[in-house]
Amino acid sequence: MKIRKAVIPAAGLGTRMLPITKSMPKEMLPIVNKPVIHYVVEEAIRAGIDDILIITGKGKRAIEDYFDRSFELEYYLRERGKVNELRQVEEIGEMVDIYYVRQKKPLGLGDAILYAEKHVNEEPFAVLLGDDLIVSEKPGIQQLIEVAQCYSSPVIGVEKVPRELVDRYGVISGTELDRELYEVHNLVEKPSPQEAPNNIAIVGRYVLTPEIFDILKEIPPGKGGEVQLTDALRELAKRRKILAKLISGKRYDIGTFEGWLRANIELSKNGGGLR
Ligand code: G1P
Repeated sequence: MKIRKAVIPAAGLGTRMLPITKSMPKEMLPIVNKPVIHYVVEEAIRAGIDDILIITGKGKRAIEDYFDRSFELEYYLRERGKVNELRQVEEIGEMVDIYYVRQKKPLGLGDAILYAEKHVNEEPFAVLLGDDLIVSEKPGIQQLIEVAQCYSSPVIGVEKVPRELVDRYGVISGTELDRELYEVHNLVEKPSPQEAPNNIAIVGRYVLTPEIFDILKEIPPGKGGEVQLTDALRELAKRRKILAKLISGKRYDIGTFEGWLRANIELSKNGGGLR
């Protein structure tokens, strides 16, 4: 199972981060000197991905501008001999092949993933959500890719979270195959702490296979009236083996102000690097 394509859904409205996200994509919030999505793209590249599809939506053009070349800025920096700044700006424009597609209506993560169907073209693919920043020696998504390749199965990234926080996440239940690996039997999107089967939460990393698209087209809207990827994965788990892997490394929940601030404070100590 060769995985060279990644999908980064970035169409969400960012309501948890209002009012800053009223006029700015949440993916462009800074972590030290780079936007969140830059770190996510870097993680994918470090894991060997060479083709990235970003699912955007209304008000997300700043993301495309960020990864594009900026000839005016490059000219300005070159003229003034600002060599380091020039190199930094040029590198962003040449990181990897990035493609864009726009989600037409904000119908949820599951619906956003459906927009990737044509692009992934029958290949297994990685999904990285910008709400989770993972700092680890081995990139979080690579940890999943290795399991997917070994077992030829879709893999979901998970982490044990305090029980009172499970209602922020999708939660899996299954059989433990190994110390950090589960075979998934059931998944619930944002259960209350009382309903949750356990505290094994989905973090925003997945390796999926194209079978997910047909399921996403069939399932009704779930939690919050949105088409949920978690619901599609529950259906997929009935049809074939899917795995969940505890991701090692430090995760920051960038979808909350607290997590975002903590990431900024801790990463500023090493100059904004990922490792
Ligand atoms: C999404 C998924 C959820 C997962 C979370 C991880 O939720 O639906 O299952 O646990 O990402 O960040 P969202 O944060 O988009 O509401």
